[in-house]
Amino acid sequence: LNIRLARVEDLTAMQACNLQNLPENYTMRYYLFYLLSHPQLSYVAEEGGRIVGYILARMDDDGGDEDEAHGHVVSISVLRSYRRLGLAKRLMIQSQQAMASVYNASYVMLHVRKSNRAAIGLYRDTLGFRVHETEKSYYADGEDAYVMRCTLKKDA
Ligand code: ACO
Repeated sequence: LNIRLARVEDLTAMQACNLQNLPENYTMRYYLFYLLSHPQLSYVAEEGGRIVGYILARMDDDGGDEDEAHGHVVSISVLRSYRRLGLAKRLMIQSQQAMASVYNASYVMLHVRKSNRAAIGLYRDTLGFRVHETEKSYYADGEDAYVMRCTLKKDA
């Protein structure tokens, strides 16, 4: 299983993976926009030419203050039969390293459903994220989101 940068030709497979795994779905324009804006931040997990997981990420610019430049994980998922193999951890670490080294990000943030035990386990226990705040009814079905953050090492 290989982790590599996502390319434009991977976007259809990334979208298919997202549709299988998450209720938050995006149009192809949206994928393309993030990939072209910050091409070093999105990765795929591949086995024998098949995309089995992805991370889609971007930078958020906070009014041009470089110290507060931060990464934002838009979406991550791994196909069911490839879970608990460490793929999501590897995808997150690759993207986080690029956020720090390419874009000088001081931290990374993301939204996650309060009920998403697996993802919260990954972020909090494996990667060291903390809950920064709760966003009430963030999701279309009314579920609250945790906004989670993790500080990045500048010299990564
Ligand atoms: N229950 C508890 N902890 C878990 C679970 C789980 N089901 N899955 C992963 N973890 C934690 C564990 O600490 C695990 O370490 P361990 O296996 O040594 O115990 C650690 O995370 C690393 O796990 P990985 O193997 O790297 O995670 P995986 O590749 O299985 O992917 C993911 C995790 C992405 C959450 C997967 O379950 C998935 O695709 N879920 C559906 C989509 C989803 O919820 N995506 C996140 C939405 S939020 C967002 O996109 C910003």
